[in-house]
Amino acid sequence: MLNIILFGPPGAGKGTQSAYLVERHGLVHLSTGDIFRSNIKDGTELGQLAQSYMNQGQLVPDGVTIRMLESEVDKHPEAKGFIFDGFPRTTAQAEALDELLNDRKAPVSCMLALEVAEEELKLRLLTRAKTSGRPDDADPAVIQKRIDVYNAETAPVASHYADQGKFTGVDGIGTIEEIAERLSAAIPND
Ligand code: AP5
Ligand code: MG
Repeated sequence: MLNIILFGPPGAGKGTQSAYLVERHGLVHLSTGDIFRSNIKDGTELGQLAQSYMNQGQLVPDGVTIRMLESEVDKHPEAKGFIFDGFPRTTAQAEALDELLNDRKAPVSCMLALEVAEEELKLRLLTRAKTSGRPDDADPAVIQKRIDVYNAETAPVASHYADQGKFTGVDGIGTIEEIAERLSAAIPND
């Protein structure tokens, strides 16, 4: 099984690049942000809980997020592998994911981290705000909060996988096709 964590700050291109990797490698794409947004749209209890955190650029609490991710993985017993986009975002989430996948004898294959400078991230998100309808794109203060939360709580997850020899940084600046090539080249044994 090929289990890829696609890592990187808000606006780094995780969603954009996931679409390419899914097509090329036949993987199941799990974006926790997309799953929360679909729950908000459907007015579920989970959506109501997540919304207040997301609109402020804060992380949804680990317990809720981990339970949701586990149930999504279990919906795809036939999967050839997964792309985890936007998860894990804390060390506790990384430990839970490792346990979940090790139990299924299909551990994390690699973490590919898209590297993009902060000014470019802000530019991309403010540009997308014109069309995305995402409340967390619309306010520069919330964008800054998302970046600050990433630096404080999520960036340390990179060392968790570097310690396991599974981390590769990838330059996230360039055309979408160029970056897709870099990511594919960084996937082990492929
Ligand atoms: P989430 O939905 O994961 O958002 P995010 O990580 O903030 O990042 P984005 O989805 O905005 O960016 P992306 O990296 O996918 O880039 P994209 O491809 O869209 O999370 C949202 C919220 O949900 C969190 O703040 C939190 O509240 C909650 N949440 C989610 N997961 C959680 C978890 N595990 N734990 C707790 N809470 C969680 O690209 C961005 C823009 O740039 C697009 O407009 C795109 O067209 C453009 N672009 C892409 N590539 C390029 C390029 N090469 N050149 C120029 N522009 C480009
Ligand atoms: Mg995304």
